Amino acid sequence: MKYRSQKVAYWFFASAMLLLVLQIVYGFIMGFAHIGYDVLHNWIPFNTARAVHTNLLVMWLLLGFMGTAYFIIPEEADRELASVPLAYIQLISFLAVGVIALLGFHFNWWEGRKFLEIPRPLDYLVVVNVLTFLGNIGWTAWNAKRHTTTSIVLYMGLLFAALLYLPGMITFDNQTVDSFYRWWVVHLWVEGVWELIMGGILCFLLIKLTGVDREVVEKWLYLIVGLTFLSGILGTGHHYYYIGTPRYWLMIGGVFSALEPLAFLGMAIYALAMARKGGRKHPNKIALTWSLGCAVMSFVGAGFLGIAHTIPQVNMYTHGTLVTAMHGHLAFWGAYAMIVLAMIAYAMPLLTGRKLWDTPAANIAFWTSNIGMVGMTGAFGVAGITQVVLERRVGLDFLVVQKEIQMHFVGLVLAASLFTIGVLMFIWIFLKHGLPRDEALELDLTSVAPVAK
Ligand code: HEM
Ligand code: HEM
Ligand SMILES: [Fe+2]
Repeated sequence: MKYRSQKVAYWFFASAMLLLVLQIVYGFIMGFAHIGYDVLHNWIPFNTARAVHTNLLVMWLLLGFMGTAYFIIPEEADRELASVPLAYIQLISFLAVGVIALLGFHFNWWEGRKFLEIPRPLDYLVVVNVLTFLGNIGWTAWNAKRHTTTSIVLYMGLLFAALLYLPGMITFDNQTVDSFYRWWVVHLWVEGVWELIMGGILCFLLIKLTGVDREVVEKWLYLIVGLTFLSGILGTGHHYYYIGTPRYWLMIGGVFSALEPLAFLGMAIYALAMARKGGRKHPNKIALTWSLGCAVMSFVGAGFLGIAHTIPQVNMYTHGTLVTAMHGHLAFWGAYAMIVLAMIAYAMPLLTGRKLWDTPAANIAFWTSNIGMVGMTGAFGVAGITQVVLERRVGLDFLVVQKEIQMHFVGLVLAASLFTIGVLMFIWIFLKHGLPRDEALELDLTSVAPVAK
């Protein structure tokens, strides 16, 4: 690392890893409940497990993005972070709010509204927290020696994500209007501004890892930002088909959301092209593997599996079924989980001075987690399609169908176990790096003596 203050990133990454493990635990609780072993039902009913699982996901990804920003912004701005103590206060308060919210879910203190369950009083604390974060990195980026496209796109993504949190905080009496604005947060995050965050991080990683000129790598970023906004904003319409909104959304949502995969395809081609052009010179091969993996898997999970149910005629049948869960898992994993893990794989040797970047264990972690997640996606897919046919076409009752598809969840739990082994190996390597050290400052990592594996 170049600046001492970049060390803050480590604690954000460590917290993210911890929440990821907890997220997986709640995933298994639901996986077993689907098979019929809902043994924790009296303490953690399915709806609680689901809310905790998805909110933990959002929390660890946000911690990952914040840690990434604390690492990237000082480096791009060529200066120390504006305030290190403020960053620690922000991390601790974020975790405190998160823990209160998650505990609250267990006692039915929540708002409903999938993904936005956090009770309103805590929302205000989230806003203060995120403003502190944006202020800290904003001050750093603003009062900088240089302003790069990468850091501007990353900052804008984070800023817009914060602004888009606000529509979810308005109270509406009407279910349709409430749903309408809920999607401004949920959809415009994952299919809009988070894509900018992902694009910014990917761009940073490609510049560092492939050795291709910054001008070339950043020129592509404009195209991706353009494609994202062109398709993603009106693409929100794919959630407005059958919720009580005017009929024109069928057309608008169908056409524009069908264009959305282009942005993800663009990112995949871009990443692969840069890696070929640069000839993979950097010794941190595993970080490049995660970066390229992210570019490819986000296209498969978000683009390909997204378009599979985005046309109104298809969505009429698949809406709210396990087909959605199939897409949700691979999209979140491919795009946002993998970009955070790519960043961690890149940053850890630089923060700690230990070059554990091309070990067999690191490669096994990558492949095991990805094959596991593809397996999980397959299990959800088969269960989802069966559910659509039996429930929506044949007309069987919801719970009758859930019993019919129990078997597919045995497959899900097996694939999820493989996935979990991969994730635990990643975390084990993370821990093996040790704590961030000042000695890693300005250390030419390629000349550091290899550490025992
Ligand atoms: C061992 C791992 C995991 C297991 C067993 C698991 C299982 C599940 C189950 C059973 C559901 C509920 C499906 C339903 O509504 O019936 C769910 C929801 C969800 N999970 Fe996981 N999960 C795991 C890991 C993950 C990971 C790593 C991610 C993200 C990268 C993720 C993202 C989601 C999302 C976004 C939903 C909500 C989907 C929707 O809205 O339909 N899960 N998970
Ligand atoms: C990384 C990007 C993406 C992520 C993380 C993601 C994740 C999700 C999640 C979690 C849901 C369930 C939301 C809920 O019910 O509250 C969802 C729904 C949906 N997504 Fe995506 N998605 C992404 C990109 C896309 C793209 C590019 C398309 C279209 C091409 C798409 C099409 C859809 C559709 C049609 C639904 C509604 C499913 C339903 O009616 O139940 N998604 N997505
Ligand atoms: Fe969407």
